[in-house]
Amino acid sequence: MLPVLLPVLLLLLPARRGGAAAGLGITARTLSPCYSADLRPTSQRLVSAVGCTVLLTIPPLQVSRGVLWEYKAGLQEGVIVSYALDGPANTSRPYKNRTRFNETDFSLQIVLQQGDDRLYGFRSESEATGWFQLRVVEPLSEPEIVGNSSVKAGGNTKLVCNVLEGKADLYWWKKNGELLLGSDHIQFVDNSTLCIVKASMNDSGYYTCVVRNEVSQNETSFLLHVQNAANVVLPVILVCVLIGLLAGVFVWCRRRDRQCYNGCR
Ligand SMILES: *[C@@H]1O[C@H](CO)[C@@H](O)[C@H](O)[C@H]1NC(C)=O
Ligand SMILES: *[C@@H]1O[C@H](CO)[C@@H](O)[C@H](O)[C@H]1NC(C)=O
Ligand SMILES: *[C@@H]1O[C@H](CO)[C@@H](O)[C@H](O)[C@H]1NC(C)=O
Ligand SMILES: *[C@@H]1O[C@H](CO)[C@@H](O)[C@H](O)[C@H]1NC(C)=O
Ligand SMILES: *[C@@H]1O[C@H](CO)[C@@H](O)[C@H](O)[C@H]1NC(C)=O
Ligand SMILES: *[C@@H]1O[C@H](CO)[C@@H](O)[C@H](O)[C@H]1NC(C)=O
Ligand SMILES: *[C@@H]1O[C@H](CO)[C@@H](O)[C@H](O)[C@H]1NC(C)=O
Repeated sequence: MLPVLLPVLLLLLPARRGGAAAGLGITARTLSPCYSADLRPTSQRLVSAVGCTVLLTIPPLQVSRGVLWEYKAGLQEGVIVSYALDGPANTSRPYKNRTRFNETDFSLQIVLQQGDDRLYGFRSESEATGWFQLRVVEPLSEPEIVGNSSVKAGGNTKLVCNVLEGKADLYWWKKNGELLLGSDHIQFVDNSTLCIVKASMNDSGYYTCVVRNEVSQNETSFLLHVQNAANVVLPVILVCVLIGLLAGVFVWCRRRDRQCYNGCR
């Protein structure tokens, strides 16, 4: 079969059957390593991450003429790779660099990009799979905590956890490694902000913001130092005492000087 004839062949291919009802099913799994994505094989739907490799497979199949992998995104459909058994596999441009088609078992490996969040299907001249849904999520980078690292006791303070890459589904906070629970004193606002009401020296410590989405988890820590009010009062008292002492010595010296003078005269 010449590649030129493939388009004709495609027209003769069976129509795609509806999702789960299809006899011929695609199985997919994410290859390791891939952040904290689930690596178990699934049918019909898979969640994976940008930058990771996904392997799409089909059950063993008797094929005499040709096969193809295709995608569907909204109304847009396209061929990923077409393969007439006697020719080289023809991979479409957007997939050229990052897919591997196995001519023996017809499996397809794809290194995922953001735009790959779409439906995938496989066809031979006699059979077609249902559409397989691939969801592609961006892994979370290390978040950033914004806040005042040094606050005075008695005041309120807040730490904001910003996710720089990807979208977090879940936020939680730890203090010195232990999960923080909300209270009147510790409040969580907009799920990314930690408010400490009437901070005390007790509240000093390492605060960790943990973020998670379907494929990844990341975290960052922040050292908060709550200054006791005494820390401000004590130096002031010390300075006053010192000034008092110096003044005393000064007066005493002057008096002594005067005494000396008087004595000498
Ligand atoms: C490869 O496929 C594209 C469309 O997917 C087609 O335009 C092109 O002619 C094909 N090339 C060969 C060598 O079959
Ligand atoms: C393949 O990807 C690399 C790096 O992403 C790029 O430099 C190269 O031009 C690509 N090749 C093709 C054929 O797209
Ligand atoms: C293609 O699939 C066959 C059968 O599963 C396997 O033995 C072979 O190693 C695969 N080839 C590549 C390049 O992965
Ligand atoms: C957290 O994000 C950094 C990049 O900001 C990345 O290097 C690291 O692998 C991520 N950690 C996890 C557990 O995904
Ligand atoms: C940090 O605290 C100081 C004094 O308590 C205050 O002047 C400053 O505005 C605070 N900075 C931020 C970013 O909240
Ligand atoms: C944060 O919480 C608000 C409502 O409390 C919710 O609408 C929003 O989706 C949440 N966002 C994240 C990233 O969890
Ligand atoms: C300070 O910490 C101790 C023990 O960690 C706790 O029992 C106490 O309630 C805390 N005080 C305040 C004001 O949070």
